[in-house]
Amino acid sequence: MTDQQDLAKTMLAEHALSLLEGHRVIGLGAGSTVMKVIDAIAASKRVLPTVIVASLATLDRCRSSGIEAELMQSVSHIDLYIDGADEVDSSFCCIKGKGGAMTGEKLCAEMAAEFIVLVDQTKLVQSLGSHWPVIAIEVVPWARSSVGRAIVKLGGKPALRAEKSDMGNEIIDCHGLDFAAPYTLSDRLNQITGVVAHGLFVHEKPTQVFSSDGNTVKALTIE
Ligand code: 5RP
Repeated sequence: MTDQQDLAKTMLAEHALSLLEGHRVIGLGAGSTVMKVIDAIAASKRVLPTVIVASLATLDRCRSSGIEAELMQSVSHIDLYIDGADEVDSSFCCIKGKGGAMTGEKLCAEMAAEFIVLVDQTKLVQSLGSHWPVIAIEVVPWARSSVGRAIVKLGGKPALRAEKSDMGNEIIDCHGLDFAAPYTLSDRLNQITGVVAHGLFVHEKPTQVFSSDGNTVKALTIE
């Protein structure tokens, strides 16, 4: 990450503070941008009513920052969910999951009335797959080979990650997939037996995206 990207994430995290007002159940995703949001909340000494997190690392960071937080298993609604992304296109379709937390992130996104994505501007793309062309797929352990074969049939190159997911499943990074029809690709991946969730967020798009170049924060509109 460059200094400018780091600065952009810090600005976005500060901006996120202004979005929290009036929301009772706040969801926090995963990754370095979200960690900065947690730092900003902790520094502001703001007490949030209920905080739901998408990953164990986020849970740890909240707790070590003095923010009470919990995982999502007993929650069915989130008022405002804040997360980062690896890529966002002009219609707000996203690639997420570089950090391997896409299942928790997708659960939160689906439960959220408002889903805010914060990205440094290098992650804004005209077409998906031009900056980070990798779809991370969480897979039940027994299905790792059969899912790998199905990915190859779709034209992708599967690579098994060394680390397991927070839920103890395998994670397969898929390179070489064709992003020309992202909704169809998402549906095909979801149909593979053994797939828990994947990092293509097209049916689960954010309602709002903010980007930063390290100097200002911009609210984006869907083209
Ligand atoms: C983790 C994610 C993250 O939101 C995504 O990788 C962006 O991370 P960062 O804020 O570190 O750039 O999807 O699974």
